[in-house]
Formats: sequence, structure tokens, C-alpha cells
Amino acid sequence: MAKLSITDLHNLRGQRVFVRVDYNVPLDEAGNISDDKRIKATLPTIDHLVKSGAKIILAAHLGRPKGKRDPRQSLRPCAARLAELIGGTVNFADDCIGDKVDAMVAAMQPGQILLLENLRFYAEEEKNDAVFAAQLAKNADVYVNDAFGTAHRAHASTAGVPEILKKRGSQCAAGFLMEKELKYLGGALSNPPRPFLCILGGAKVSDKIAVIENLLTQADAILIGGAMAYTFLKSQGYGVGNSLVENDKLDLAKNLLAKAKGKKFLLPVDHVQATKPEAGATTRITDGPSLEDGWCGVDIGPKTIAAYNQEIVAAKTIVWNGPMGIFEIPEFSKGTFEVAKAVAGNKGATSIIGGGDSAKAVKKAGVDKQVTFVSTGGGASLEFLEGRELPGVAALSNK
Ligand code: 3PG
Repeated sequence: MAKLSITDLHNLRGQRVFVRVDYNVPLDEAGNISDDKRIKATLPTIDHLVKSGAKIILAAHLGRPKGKRDPRQSLRPCAARLAELIGGTVNFADDCIGDKVDAMVAAMQPGQILLLENLRFYAEEEKNDAVFAAQLAKNADVYVNDAFGTAHRAHASTAGVPEILKKRGSQCAAGFLMEKELKYLGGALSNPPRPFLCILGGAKVSDKIAVIENLLTQADAILIGGAMAYTFLKSQGYGVGNSLVENDKLDLAKNLLAKAKGKKFLLPVDHVQATKPEAGATTRITDGPSLEDGWCGVDIGPKTIAAYNQEIVAAKTIVWNGPMGIFEIPEFSKGTFEVAKAVAGNKGATSIIGGGDSAKAVKKAGVDKQVTFVSTGGGASLEFLEGRELPGVAALSNK
């Protein structure tokens, strides 16, 4: 069912628009924002609402403070960063509910922006507590969700608040970022130009079971990398040395491979193996898919890179989620970076990078601007690729 868009909202002048954003940004040790992509990604929505004369109340979470106030997880630095990015004023409320917040909202003028303090300083946020949701909703006439990265959570600010507003007859719409995410990820799943290629990496098969099962029915080819490849290989009787393996998932890996029979489901044919998974370790390329005793797999090898490149250059739609190896360590980053460059180099394809580690990898490889779309959602994009309806999207008004 198509959801209401921010462009469907009219007469916003003077209306209090509650905007759920995902400002769960990484902070360095000094508490500075080390990557403001998620803040930048909300600018089109904020700009549109400012121009519409709305009173913009931004709500977000940072980290997992589990219901306790923690100054290190305050959203205050995000207010400052947003103010810099828009070249204007962003007021900050050091709470997200209560009399003080209500008074600040009541004093707002059209076009003004107020960022509320971390919603997760209240345990009620993650519990989708009805009373807490009502306290948030009381400061809202209209609801916009631009927090794709949090749309897989059925929390008060993503599910409870829009449910209350809809009951009141108010509109709940997707912001521009949310729409863009749904357009690219949804487009890949619903009607992709073919061949449709999926590249899946990361440490655990268990994290990707549902994605693999869903993509097996949709994609023309699936390429596997990262430590989860070792679980697949062990289930086929190959040697895995000291590699990270989910021994309790070998049957599951076997079953997935059986389901993939007759499809292009590629496992690495060689690896970079190391004496330990740490910088400075001795490395060696394996002869084939087996790893040697005493060694552990840390990246895909050159033959695998070449085989995967062949699939990548031929694809018309590419979805990539999860790195090929321990790319944070330079000696083990080649496979991930070569895949990133190949994906970015295929200008004839729509290339979509799932958030989280793959987003970090394309950035580190210096090609994040050359791919079609980098999702701002890690867990959310994964759940979307599993074919699940995201609660934060389901809660919005239908068109
Ligand atoms: C994310 O960073 O993936 C989102 O902000 C959701 O955060 P969470 O996993 O703590 O719910």
C-alpha cells in the first residue's frame, strides 16, 4: 500500500510537525560526530518544512542508553551540526517530554526548528509505551518519518506516535529520505532491471538467513564473502583452519546451499589467510576453497575477486550488504575494496549499498559518491531485504 508522502502535506504554515529522524551517528572519543551522513540526509525534508512555514520538532535516538540519561549520548552535538549545515538556528530541548518541552514548543514560530533530547533516555521509547507516546504526540499536529534507519523498530516515536495521530485524524507521511530509501531498496526487490546481483558478506550466516532466503527467489546471482563463507564451506567439507565459523549453523548452511541449487550462488574459490586476524599477521593466499590448518580466513582471494568482478560488470541491478573480509585492517581490505570499486565502476547498473559496514567500506574505498545509492539504514535495510514490512513504514497514513 502506497504511503502518504511529505509532498502530499499542504497548509503546513504554523503546524507543529513532529519529524522522527535517525541521528544515531558515530561519535569519536572526544564526543565529536565522526560521520554526519545521517544528518545531511535529512536536510531536504527539513528545508521543505522550513519553507512551508511549519514548526519543526525533530526527535531521534543516539546509542542504546536503555532508559538512563547519559550525557555522552546526548543529541546536543547533532543540534549544533545541523545548525552549521543549514546555516541557521536549531534550538535544543534537553528533554523530549514534559512541561519544559511543551513550553518550548508553544513558543515556536513558523519555520523554527527544535531538536528534542535522546528519546531513549526513557525506557518507554523502546517499549512503545502508550503514555509516553501520548506525551510526545501532544506536541504534534502532523507526523513525518524520515528515520529509515530506525524504521525496523516498533518504538513509541516510530509506531506509537503515528498511531495516535492517525486516530486523531492527523496525517502521517514519509519524508524525502524515507521515500528515497524505499524507492531504491523497494525498486530492487519489486522490478529490478536484470541481471539482478546480490553481494552478501559479513561475519554470520545467522544474520543473513532470511535475506538469503528472500533473495534466492528474486536475484539472478548471489555472491558470498566475509566470514559467513567459511560456515558455508565447512558445511561442504572444505577445510576452514581457525577461521570464524558458526558450528551450530552448518546444517542451516547446507540447507541454504541445497535451496540455491540451480541458481548462481557463488562461494569464494580462494582466500587471503592469516596466522591471526590481526594487523601485522603473516598472510598467504590459499590454493583453493580450503583454508590450511592453523590459518584463518580474513579476505577473499584474487581468483574470487576476478570471478566476482565478472558478475558485477554484467549486472544491471546490484545490492550489496556486508564486507568481504576484515576491511578495517589494511592488509585484509583488498577484496572488499576491489568489490566496492567494481560495483561503483558499473555505470550501467543501479547500485545500492546496504548501510552499516558496507556503507563504511564504500566510503573507505573512496567510491561512495560513485554508487547509485548508499542506504542510511543498517539493520533496517537488512530487514527490508528480508521482505519484511517495517513497522515505521506500516504506521504511516495510506495514500
Ligand atoms: C541504527 O543505527 O541501525 C539505527 O539507528 C537503529 O539503532 P538500534 O539498532 O540501536 O535500534
